Amino acid sequence: MHSTTDNPQPATAHAVETLRGRTIVTGDKSISHRALMLASLALGTTTIHGLLEGEDVLRTAEALRQCGVPITRHADGHWTVSGRGIGGLHEPANILDMGNAGTAARLMMGLLSTYPFTSHFTGDESLRKRPMMRVITPLQQIGATFIARDGGRLPLAMKGASQPMPIHYALPVASAQVKSAILLAGLNIKGTTTVVEHEATRDHSERMLRFFGVPVKTTTDEDGTVTITLDGQPNQKPEERTLHVPADPSSAAFPIVAALLVPKAEVTVTNVCLNPLRTGLFDVLKKMGADITISNPREVGGEPVGDITARSSHLKEVDVPAHIAPSMIDEYPILAIAAACATGKSVMRGLSELRVKESDRLAAIIAGLRANGVEAHEEGDDLVVYGKGGRPQGGGTVTTHFDHRIAMSFLILGLVSKEPVTVDDTRAIATSFPSFMTLMRDLGAKFIIARKVERPTPERRMVITVDGPAASGKGSLARRLAYHFGLGYLDTGLLYRAVGMRVLYANQDPHDVAAAIAAARAINAQDLANPKLRGERIGKAASIVSAMPEVREALLEYQHRFAASENGGVLDGRDTGTVICPDADYKFFITASLEARAKRRHKELQDYGVTVDYQSVYDDLVERDARDANRAVAPMKPAEDAVVIDTSKLTMSQVFEKVMGELGG
Ligand code: S3P
Repeated sequence: MHSTTDNPQPATAHAVETLRGRTIVTGDKSISHRALMLASLALGTTTIHGLLEGEDVLRTAEALRQCGVPITRHADGHWTVSGRGIGGLHEPANILDMGNAGTAARLMMGLLSTYPFTSHFTGDESLRKRPMMRVITPLQQIGATFIARDGGRLPLAMKGASQPMPIHYALPVASAQVKSAILLAGLNIKGTTTVVEHEATRDHSERMLRFFGVPVKTTTDEDGTVTITLDGQPNQKPEERTLHVPADPSSAAFPIVAALLVPKAEVTVTNVCLNPLRTGLFDVLKKMGADITISNPREVGGEPVGDITARSSHLKEVDVPAHIAPSMIDEYPILAIAAACATGKSVMRGLSELRVKESDRLAAIIAGLRANGVEAHEEGDDLVVYGKGGRPQGGGTVTTHFDHRIAMSFLILGLVSKEPVTVDDTRAIATSFPSFMTLMRDLGAKFIIARKVERPTPERRMVITVDGPAASGKGSLARRLAYHFGLGYLDTGLLYRAVGMRVLYANQDPHDVAAAIAAARAINAQDLANPKLRGERIGKAASIVSAMPEVREALLEYQHRFAASENGGVLDGRDTGTVICPDADYKFFITASLEARAKRRHKELQDYGVTVDYQSVYDDLVERDARDANRAVAPMKPAEDAVVIDTSKLTMSQVFEKVMGELGG
């Protein structure tokens, strides 16, 4: 099982002017899970074309193999399953690890709940947080027993019912997964199993059961209540079947929304599943003014299918009522991106279920939007997004919580933001849409995968220097880099203060070169930790001794010793990239406009409770800059091979991200 926290793979998306092309996204995830499961319960061989080979679906294949079903992959998306028949599965020999896949876990629990053996289920960190009570409760009524973690979470052990009972179950939450788990159990229960849903959810299980010859009845009342009945243990006869999985509308949503938002774009996604219980997003986008057209409508494997074309559009705000949620439950992250670029305030209602998806999507969407300059908040279970009516600011880093749809949505945001958007980890994308990056790049997207920066070790030392004018933010950056890489940090400016301090404390004159040299040779780490170093009198002495070439020379050794320490280190201050460590691995020169620096310094002083007017802070910096640039000894200048970063318009985090980008490639 791969960890959701080790070795993240960040990526950054940059603005593009055009997106063009015709593309086919991968097979539908919901249908792919069901295809493997129902083919396993059929008699005879089922050939599947277009199967999604995302990690989630591969977990389903592996779990079924563990239950004794021969499943073979022949080529991309082309698989065969030798069905064992209803009631023909074996006890799994090991724990079923469902990875990140909620659908796989819940449906497999239903599938195995009617076999009188014990199955063990687990999953990754995200899946282990998700609620399983919603399937445990009806499966207990059928006769299965469970030992689960607190709150009905994975890992859990399920002992299947030896005499399973048909149930009549009204879904307390609108969930296709719970409905499907019950129907899959019902297949192996004598008698009629009934599921009632007050809001219709995706009906792929029902459609596919019919495809496999199982009569499933669905009736809908005037008030929208849907009743599904299934007579279990039907007569089965061996049959060769071929099943085509249409493309996933939830994956198609990403290139389609991208095409609507990018200025000059036209993208067609072909062969998309247009099951009306999945296409809520496209209807909502059209209401927002999206130029979306559907062509070539047809039916494939019992599902309506068509080609979708999207062109650049000016979107306006929208109010999405709660009852639409089941038909677009996975599309709220990408709809929120569309809303962020639309004009006006959009409201998406009744989204409590988003809190228990692969992550708390409501929280992840809001945090991601805010990090990129878009105002959004929750009101009860509603999501409110204030559209920018154009390009959002961007520039932020989004925490994805190992959630594929959060990662893909915010990469799309980066394609239309003023500044690049970084997502902290893209690995989860492989659970549902492994070809996302390549496919989007083929259309014209600009995604840059950060090369991993390895932690320094004695074998792989790293010396970083950070120089720049006063109040440019170089100190904060250097400290953050040191903390990030677990390296030592040296503020070289403090060395001159330490020399000044020693001279003053020995009652000597700071202009006395010999005394200053002796002090420079004597300084130690304790001196640098002395809180008195920051005092004004010591500051004045420091500026005198720092102008003496002999003192600078004498301090070189201390700095070299620091840079030679085990894993390397981060040095911040004058000359660090030129004179002190000309061979440093990475050199940065951090600057900012005079105004930006003056504003920062002024605020910093105010935060410290120092009352000083802005103009005097400004004048002080002008004077320091002039002194720094013109002095004979160690004038300020960037090393030729330093990366120069202007931080005037950047936050500290943005500067850090930029530097990390440089370090990573
Ligand atoms: C799915 C149902 C939905 C959806 C998930 C796939 C399915 O979950 O979010 O991605 O295949 O049945 P819920 O049933 O929890 O709403």
